[in-house]
Amino acid sequence: MNVMTFMMLLIGIDCFNIDTTNVVNILGPEGTHFGYSAVMFTNEDSQKWVVIGAIKANFTNDQNITTPGNIFKCKLNFTQSTQDCEPMNIRTNDNRRWPHLPGYEEDNELLGAAMSIFDDTIITCAPLWKNMIPLINNKLVHPIGRCFNIDRNLQSYTTKYFTYNVFRNKFANQSDYEFAQIGLSISNKKYEDNSLLNILIGAPGFLDNEGGFLQYTGNSTLHEFFSTFTRHEFAEDAAKQGLQHGSLMGYSLSTGKLSDSDEDCPGVIVLGTPHSTWNNGIVGGVFVFCLKQTNKKLYLKKQFTGEKVPFGLYNIYNRFKSYHLVYTICTV
Ligand SMILES: *[C@@H]1O[C@H](CO)[C@@H](O)[C@H](O)[C@H]1NC(C)=O
Ligand SMILES: *[C@@H]1O[C@H](CO)[C@@H](O)[C@H](O)[C@H]1NC(C)=O
Ligand SMILES: *[C@@H]1O[C@H](CO)[C@@H](O)[C@H](O)[C@H]1NC(C)=O
Ligand SMILES: *[C@@H]1O[C@H](CO)[C@@H](O)[C@H](O)[C@H]1NC(C)=O
Ligand SMILES: *[C@@H]1O[C@H](CO)[C@@H](O)[C@H](O)[C@H]1NC(C)=O
Repeated sequence: MNVMTFMMLLIGIDCFNIDTTNVVNILGPEGTHFGYSAVMFTNEDSQKWVVIGAIKANFTNDQNITTPGNIFKCKLNFTQSTQDCEPMNIRTNDNRRWPHLPGYEEDNELLGAAMSIFDDTIITCAPLWKNMIPLINNKLVHPIGRCFNIDRNLQSYTTKYFTYNVFRNKFANQSDYEFAQIGLSISNKKYEDNSLLNILIGAPGFLDNEGGFLQYTGNSTLHEFFSTFTRHEFAEDAAKQGLQHGSLMGYSLSTGKLSDSDEDCPGVIVLGTPHSTWNNGIVGGVFVFCLKQTNKKLYLKKQFTGEKVPFGLYNIYNRFKSYHLVYTICTV
C-alpha cells in the first residue's frame, strides 16, 4: 500500500545505533515514489518537520499537469502512530503558458528528485522541468531543470529560470546545454562557508549527457545566481579520457574537505559518472576535483573507475528508474 517507511530514533538520539523498534511511519499516497528524497529539521518553535519528495505525485491544485511530482511537509508528533503530511504544490508560477503547444513545462518534471537543507533554506529540484518553446520548430522539448528555495518556515519559496542565454553565450557553437537536467543531485554540504547558499547541483545532461554541475549561490538579488562547470573547465586533459557523450557526470555529487586540502583548493568536489568509459567499456567512475578559486578551473585529484556499470550512482535502484525516464523525455 505504502511506498515508504521513514524510521526515526525515539530513544537514544545521541548514539549511533539505529533503533528499529521505536519507529514512526510516514505514509504517502500510493504510486507517487513518496520518500524519493527527504530532509528532517526542527524549527524555532521546536516543532520537528520532515519534508519529503514524491517524484510521481500530482499537484492537488492543478490536475492539468501530468504527474509532475510534489513536495510534502509532515509535522512530526511522536505520540501519534500516523503523521500528518500536506502537499506543498511547489509551482514555477511564471505565468508563461503555451496554449497552442501540447503539454506543460511542469509535466513529468520529477519534482523532489533531490533535496537538501542549508541553514534557513531547503533546496529541491525538478530536473525535467522543460523549456517548451523549441517544440514549435523541432518537435523537441528541452528538459533544462529547475530548482526551488523553500524557506525553512515552510511558508514561502522562490525559483528562478536557469537562463538559456547564459549557456548560449558561453559556447556559441554548442547547443548542448538544452538537456541539462539540472537538479538530479544536490550536495548535502555547502561548498564554501559564506553568506550565500553556495552549494553544488548536478547537471548530468550538459554536453549531450556528458554531464557537469552548477555552483549555485541561489542569491535572489543577483542576476547571475549560478556558474556552470563541464569538461570545458577542466585544467588538464587527464579526466577527459573516460568522458564521452552519455557519461552522466553529476548524476550524484558531494563536496568536502580532504586532510591535504591546500589554501587554493578549500574543498573537493566528488562527481559520480555512472556511464563513463575505461578500456573501451562502460564501467562508470567517480571523479574528485579541486576547483581553484584563482582561475575557476577544475583540477583532477583522483579518479576511481568501476568494474561494471553503473559505478557512481548514489542510489542504484531508485536512480536507475529515473535514468530511464530521462531518456524517455529526451527522445520524445
Ligand atoms: C495523477 O493524475 C493522473 C491524471 O489525472 C492520474 O492518472 C494518476 O493516477 C494520478 N496519480 C496519482 C499518484 O494520484
Ligand atoms: C485546465 O485545463 C482546462 C482546459 O484547458 C482549463 O479550462 C482549466 O482552467 C485548467 N485548469 C487550471 C488549474 O489551469
Ligand atoms: C500530538 O498528538 C496528541 C495525540 O493526538 C495530541 O494530544 C497533541 O496535542 C499533539 N501534539 C501537538 C504538538 O500537536
Ligand atoms: C566549438 O568551438 C571550440 C573552439 O572554437 C572548438 O574547440 C569545439 O570543437 C567546437 N565544438 C563544436 C561542437 O563544434
Ligand atoms: C546577495 O548578494 C548581495 C550582493 O553580493 C548580498 O549583499 C546579499 O546579502 C546576498 N543575499 C543573500 C540572500 O545571500
